[in-house]
Amino acid sequence: MPEFQTSPGMRDILPPESARWRRFVEVFAQVCESAGYGQVIPPLLEDLGVFQRIGDATDVVSKEMYDFEDKGGRHVALRPELTASVCRAFVQHKPVVPWKVWYAGSMFRYEKPQRGRYRQFDQVGIEVLGADDPYLDVEVIALGWEFYKALGLQQVNLLVNSLGEPDDRARYVAALTAHFEAHLDALSPESRVTLQKNPLRVLDSKREQDAPLVAAAPHIADFYSPESAAHFDGVQAGLRALGISFTIDAKLVRGLDYYRRTTFEYQGGTLDSAQNALGGGGRYDGLVESLGGQPTPGVGFALGLDRTLLACEDEGVFGAPPQAVDVFVVDTTGGLEALRLTAELRAAGIRADRAYENRSMKSQMKVADRSGAAVALIVGTNELEEGTVVVRPLRQHDTDRGAQTAVARTDLIPHLRNLL
Ligand code: HAM
Repeated sequence: MPEFQTSPGMRDILPPESARWRRFVEVFAQVCESAGYGQVIPPLLEDLGVFQRIGDATDVVSKEMYDFEDKGGRHVALRPELTASVCRAFVQHKPVVPWKVWYAGSMFRYEKPQRGRYRQFDQVGIEVLGADDPYLDVEVIALGWEFYKALGLQQVNLLVNSLGEPDDRARYVAALTAHFEAHLDALSPESRVTLQKNPLRVLDSKREQDAPLVAAAPHIADFYSPESAAHFDGVQAGLRALGISFTIDAKLVRGLDYYRRTTFEYQGGTLDSAQNALGGGGRYDGLVESLGGQPTPGVGFALGLDRTLLACEDEGVFGAPPQAVDVFVVDTTGGLEALRLTAELRAAGIRADRAYENRSMKSQMKVADRSGAAVALIVGTNELEEGTVVVRPLRQHDTDRGAQTAVARTDLIPHLRNLL
């Protein structure tokens, strides 16, 4: 075992998997930019206070934060998510509204590592600040949906809910608390603790013991104000108009405290319930204000890259893009010619690799085969003297293997362009 390994819950993403990650972000960028979203790149680290606005009652803030004092005595934290940072940036830079942004990057949460759950993980997401319109919620939800389609995923389920306005929610939480407190003995010890901190999260309990009480709990829909109900109706009508199928899940509260009205989650149909949340989001109309800004509505989502890729594997879609070079240069004259030739080919836009250390022809050909290149370009003493290069196809199905031709150096690039 080497002395140093990645810390628990942290990983190295190596090629070719890393190419898949990059492509993931590229596809996301295309989907977002086609809808008028620009990229925002906030720092990895912020004042702890920014993230505390997510809500003290959430595990993300109370248990999982990577926070520490920096050398200047500031209490800072690695970002556990980006919504709070985006709101902080909005307050700081005062952009024109609606401010539509997308992002991609690593988040940090000190969680118990398991399949699909890491301490450093990547998200892509969008946020829209400064517009309060149910059809904007629909646009946001639909963009996530479009993105899954662009990846080729078919088994994604969309769950939506509304938590109502803060007043509705307060009345609901009071009713919910009364319900659970009336049956405290039947509640699991873990949920009794949750009840003290955040009664809504008891609805999230997956424990069998809690199931009957959770099923019998009051329904949020009975507590909506007319405005909240109208907003939620608008969201549903918009989703129907776009032909996006969804399920209303009255127990969808999500893990963060800032949500108001619309919440939603995309679940992977092929994954276990412990990691089937591919992504989610909702409205967070009070967050900008809690960070010192003017009251500003906000809505967005974040999608977990790891879990979405797990779903892709299960469905057999969105594999790693091919990474092989086009040509592989084999030079038995010392290597200087390979140096020149690869530089020339790369400048001409042909992906080229070569062998090093002046190995034998046989050993260089082995590396050429392994490289996945379509052709080997071979330069020996004769070729060097004649100003030619031997072009040898490497892949059987492309053309007859071994049917090699000598091509003049001056004709090489047009010849390869024709061939590849
Ligand atoms: P979240 O539900 O905490 O929401 O995270 C979104 C997604 O990130 C999850 O559905 C999951 O796929 C992924 N994720 C979360 N934790 C981990 C982990 N430890 N390992 C791997 N993947 C993970 C948010 O972060 C909100 N900021 C979403 C949002 C944006 N709401 C409004 N705007």
